[in-house]
Amino acid sequence: MMNGKIIPLFVLHFILFVICVPLMGFSIATDTISSNLFLKDPDTIVSSGNVFKLGFFTPENTTNRYLANRDKPLKDSSNTVTISKNGNLVLIDGRNQTVWSTNAKTSHVNTILRIQDNGNLILLDNATGIIIWESFSHPTNTFLPTSKVFDNLNTGEKTLASSWKNGSDPVVGSFTSGLQALNIPQLFIWKNRLPYWRSGQWNGQIFIGIKDAYHSNIHYILVDNHAGIIYITDYNPTSVLMKFTLNSSGSIMQTLWNDQKKDWDIVWSIPQNECDVYGTCGPFGSCNAQDSPICSCLRGFEPVNKEEWEKGNWTGGCRRRKKLECDQSNNTSGARGNGDGFLKLKFMKVPDFAEQFPSRQENECRSRCLRNCSCIAYAYDPNIGCMFWSENLIDVQRFAGVGYDLYIRLSTSELDNNKVKRLFIIIAVVMAIFCISILIFIVRCWMVKRKGGKTKGKNTFEPRKTISLDSTTIVLKDESQEVNIEELSLFTFEMLANATYQFHDNNLLGEGGFGLVYKGKLTNGKEIAIKRLSAASGQGTEEFMNELILISKLQHKNLVRLHGCCVEKEEKMIIYEYMQNKSLDVCLFDPTHPSRNILDWMKRFGIIEGIGRGLLYLHKDSRLRIIHRDLKPSNILLDEDWNPKISDFGMARIFGGNHDHANTTRVVGTYGYMAPEYAMEGIFSEKSDVYSFGVLMLEIVKGKKNTHYYNHEWSLSLLGCAWKLWSEDNGLAFADENIVNPNLEKEIVRCIQIALLCVQEFPKDRPTIQTILSMLNCEIVALPVPEQPVFAEKWNGLHGSSSQPISQVGFSVNEVTLSVLNGR
Ligand SMILES: *[C@@H]1O[C@H](CO)[C@@H](O)[C@H](O)[C@H]1NC(C)=O
Ligand SMILES: *[C@@H]1O[C@H](CO)[C@@H](O)[C@H](O)[C@H]1NC(C)=O
Ligand SMILES: *[C@@H]1O[C@H](CO)[C@@H](O)[C@H](O)[C@H]1NC(C)=O
Ligand SMILES: *[C@@H]1O[C@H](CO)[C@@H](O)[C@H](O)[C@H]1NC(C)=O
Ligand SMILES: *[C@@H]1O[C@H](CO)[C@@H](O)[C@H](O)[C@H]1NC(C)=O
Repeated sequence: MMNGKIIPLFVLHFILFVICVPLMGFSIATDTISSNLFLKDPDTIVSSGNVFKLGFFTPENTTNRYLANRDKPLKDSSNTVTISKNGNLVLIDGRNQTVWSTNAKTSHVNTILRIQDNGNLILLDNATGIIIWESFSHPTNTFLPTSKVFDNLNTGEKTLASSWKNGSDPVVGSFTSGLQALNIPQLFIWKNRLPYWRSGQWNGQIFIGIKDAYHSNIHYILVDNHAGIIYITDYNPTSVLMKFTLNSSGSIMQTLWNDQKKDWDIVWSIPQNECDVYGTCGPFGSCNAQDSPICSCLRGFEPVNKEEWEKGNWTGGCRRRKKLECDQSNNTSGARGNGDGFLKLKFMKVPDFAEQFPSRQENECRSRCLRNCSCIAYAYDPNIGCMFWSENLIDVQRFAGVGYDLYIRLSTSELDNNKVKRLFIIIAVVMAIFCISILIFIVRCWMVKRKGGKTKGKNTFEPRKTISLDSTTIVLKDESQEVNIEELSLFTFEMLANATYQFHDNNLLGEGGFGLVYKGKLTNGKEIAIKRLSAASGQGTEEFMNELILISKLQHKNLVRLHGCCVEKEEKMIIYEYMQNKSLDVCLFDPTHPSRNILDWMKRFGIIEGIGRGLLYLHKDSRLRIIHRDLKPSNILLDEDWNPKISDFGMARIFGGNHDHANTTRVVGTYGYMAPEYAMEGIFSEKSDVYSFGVLMLEIVKGKKNTHYYNHEWSLSLLGCAWKLWSEDNGLAFADENIVNPNLEKEIVRCIQIALLCVQEFPKDRPTIQTILSMLNCEIVALPVPEQPVFAEKWNGLHGSSSQPISQVGFSVNEVTLSVLNGR
């Protein structure tokens, strides 16, 4: 498994860095070394676009010199790199000894070495252009966006990154990382060749065991040539430089180059907690980072060694409490385990060692598993099909709000047991609610009597009290006006817990930017949505108050209505009206969702207009000037009549009347919806919202998500595709097949043109939301001609390569709002 050759090579020094910090030596003005040229320490060669350079370097706390000689430190700087007589790249020290060589079998005489702008160092035959050796196939501890991480199932060779021993010694350390493509592909970090972290299975879009993948903006594809050679590669749609590095303590860090700081910013890393470490809770154990202790046995299982388990040594794992019927019948009776049943566990990172069976139906997985006594669990994914497990369930984790349903086989007695228990709990809860209700009723009656029947307000959903004044009187800087949210209803934690059955998973609606959203039902039958901010989410009091103040002050048909909030100890919750049709995201982009077909052009246009009106209210009509900053489909909720309501104001900024735009040190928003000037420079204005609105319009017309969309034929993104078709007078071809109708052509094409006006590169070229609404209503008849959008082509990096992928899936998810790029 681990016999891939690892040849270290260090090429990660940015020329951008060099320009600012004068270095000794000089850069040879070339990106190439040919056989009659030498690279002498401390000279360097630089890629043609000034992005990467190659040269000797010294790690911190040492004086050793390194280039590719990871395990043979050089003591002085009398070393050279050149091309040997047989065409290999060689590193020669001061005593004329070969320290390192590419060792490729070659008979090429005329080879040259070139460093490319994507960070790849290639040795090629100058006459034929054949690549003899490349550094991307021999990474040290870093994967770059366009490098390909191979697993060759025929030869067992893998592209493996291996960690340094420590920060000052590049020699191969304990950790390696690469792709394991056998069965269902997974990424791994190994520690001394044993699994240390596992990405979970590839489902054609993401690795399903990485919690953040469900919301991330990393774009990557898995290519399978169906001949045993599989690779994964990722690419970066923006011009930001990115790398993944395996550090000496076994973490993979994703970093972005920050040109202002001249340094790398860490934007993501894995493993993030003990639960991410492979098999922390042992076989049949389940890890939940939010629980204390983090490990528990799966239901129906008990610790193998109770004492060790209670001491926090979970590696022994758990064992089955009640034998399966399968085991008892010894496969001789005809029943063959039909007496067993399955317990459903939601939001799981499913175990390692899954066996795949292609199937389009979840039911088939169940019946297949039931029929086979070695099958102890199954899960289903439309793309993977059935996943079956036998023997062991290892490396199971419970996520919050994302993940897969895992069905584990239990004996019916165990399942009944659970049912009985649950029934008891339900009865107890119902009794308790009943008693409390009566008590409240009595107390209220008594109070009403005492006040002589005087009741205040129209609190139909019975909040207990309102927030006390002094803690909530907030002065808005830009308005110098006191806002007090006295009218806001305060709910108690208990009320909300009861309304959601103690925040039971069955009531989970989804995961918002900063916490989980639950559906709840108050005792009076009113349905509500509750956003429960997780203490760990990093959404501070600032964003919380921001959202509260903003929404409580705003009232518009196309903005979500706030019912109240709850602030108790660590808990912060916001209560909204509940939306029958969930979010635009759910209704429009899930091809299997029934409402997709209900959304005809009339409804879609209504949604576009509604969002526009909501936005106009934010920008102009409300007393404040508000920039939403995070408009995207998951933030557009739909009521039962498909009226759109803008939600999630955690990011919104209030503007003083005399500013046209503002700069921010924290770029928050979602890739794919952020205007270029905002994503790159942190400048935001109403026009950045207009940009996001333009993207939304195109998505609604196309019925596809911007970041999930890629046109293979033309190598174009959603924006690029819209522009191409529109400028070729073929706009209707861009629209969703479900809504195309020649009678609507004028209207749809007009809508596409308006959207293209919104996504233009320069903010000044984009119309205001007022103008957009006038255009939509045809109050303005003649439309200007839009410029080509900047993010039109983004897959170039991939198509420049010479490989012939037979199947590939483009992917990116874009739910979570990220805050990166700490500039200025
Ligand atoms: C280094 O070794 C090569 C052959 O290995 C030889 O041709 C060359 O003259 C040597 N150079 C020096 C400076 O000793
Ligand atoms: C790194 O490892 C080397 C041994 O390989 C050791 O001599 C050195 O002290 C270590 N440096 C640090 C900073 O731990
Ligand atoms: C490796 O990266 C992780 C996550 O960024 C960090 O916590 C850890 O300190 C790093 N280890 C070293 C040796 O730098
Ligand atoms: C943890 O428990 C296992 C048995 O369950 C035992 O073999 C192992 O030595 C224990 N490890 C520690 C550190 O106590
Ligand atoms: C039962 O499942 C095991 C393990 O998943 C598999 O190896 C075996 O072929 C299956 N047997 C039948 C009859 O499907």
